[in-house]
Amino acid sequence: MAQDVNTILCIFVLYLSFKGGQLEKISMKIVEEPSNFGSSYGQDSQTHSLTPKVKPANFSGPPHLKRLYGKCFEKLDENYRYEFCPFINLTQHELALRWNPYSGILGIWEEWEIKNNTFIAMLMKNGDDCGDLHRSVKVIFHCGKTNEITEVTEPETCKYLLNFSTPLVCHDHSMLVYPVLSPELREKWNLLEGDFLNEEVTSKGYNKELRHIFEEAGFYMSKKVHLSLSKEDSTHNGEETDGTNSENLDTLDKCLVEYHKLKQEIEGLRVLVALQGKNQEQNIGSVTAKEEYYEDIIVHDFEGDY
Ligand SMILES: *[C@@H]1O[C@H](CO)[C@@H](O)[C@H](O)[C@H]1NC(C)=O
Ligand SMILES: *[C@@H]1O[C@H](CO)[C@@H](O)[C@H](O)[C@H]1NC(C)=O
Ligand SMILES: *[C@@H]1O[C@H](CO)[C@@H](O)[C@H](O)[C@H]1NC(C)=O
Ligand SMILES: *[C@@H]1O[C@H](CO)[C@@H](O)[C@H](O)[C@H]1NC(C)=O
Repeated sequence: MAQDVNTILCIFVLYLSFKGGQLEKISMKIVEEPSNFGSSYGQDSQTHSLTPKVKPANFSGPPHLKRLYGKCFEKLDENYRYEFCPFINLTQHELALRWNPYSGILGIWEEWEIKNNTFIAMLMKNGDDCGDLHRSVKVIFHCGKTNEITEVTEPETCKYLLNFSTPLVCHDHSMLVYPVLSPELREKWNLLEGDFLNEEVTSKGYNKELRHIFEEAGFYMSKKVHLSLSKEDSTHNGEETDGTNSENLDTLDKCLVEYHKLKQEIEGLRVLVALQGKNQEQNIGSVTAKEEYYEDIIVHDFEGDY
């Protein structure tokens, strides 16, 4: 593609130069122009010239989504090529046949949007300037057969919406928050829930405390972490992301770590089921059956993937 464009450009410039009768001057341009022009189609030279304002946050959220971390996905539409690297960034590259087409950062991974004990969206912020704002992105996961960007839209100026389909979110409970928390944070949440039910905290106090729990878990970004990420030299970005290759389950140690995470998740579901059972005043027998059912599907889900 780039080659054809270069050829056309050369012929055009040559044509102009003959017409104008100033062959020497313009023929210098033939060498310069095509080499820069072509590079807007290549990935490397362009993406490396983009400078992020902040570093991405660490991975957080449903552990099974870690399989998307360290990978990037592309989507072409009429005018742009998008490159989405989950838990890192989203960039946009204009495909226009003109000098110096736009290529920029739409957002850097920051935190989750959480509602009703559910991870709703991956929020990427601090993208390129857009008037007084920074570009930002909301990534919504949909159940689908393959990992791919299904759509990128801009519902509000410089606020993008990216739909991503993946088999990783097809299970009803794949985006639940409670099971992903550490036992300590779950305990905090249980206590908070109790206090709220007994009207010992207001709904404002409840929300504030819940926010703290999610900050501690890394799902929300605290002011402190926010500052540390913008202060740090963002040129070290590359080094950190290179480390993501080590996420492959290629050693026994890593498998064990993942195994313990899964075990923890199952424990979380047990508690959740038990809690629900209590609330609904179901008999013990049906709670146990439910529990086994959840455990069964979760273990199968993960076995299938490894
Ligand atoms: C976006 O993330 C990818 C993957 O880590 C990285 O290769 C790329 O350089 C990043 N882009 C920008 C503009 O930081
Ligand atoms: C990211 O994780 C590393 C290693 O666990 C930790 O040292 C670092 O403080 C974390 N960074 C942020 C911004 O949370
Ligand atoms: C909250 O999430 C549960 C599933 O976890 C769902 O059944 C319920 O409808 C949701 N409630 C609201 C208000 O969205
Ligand atoms: C993208 O996600 C939004 C929000 O969930 C939804 O309203 C819209 O229909 C989705 N578009 C596609 C093509 O899936």
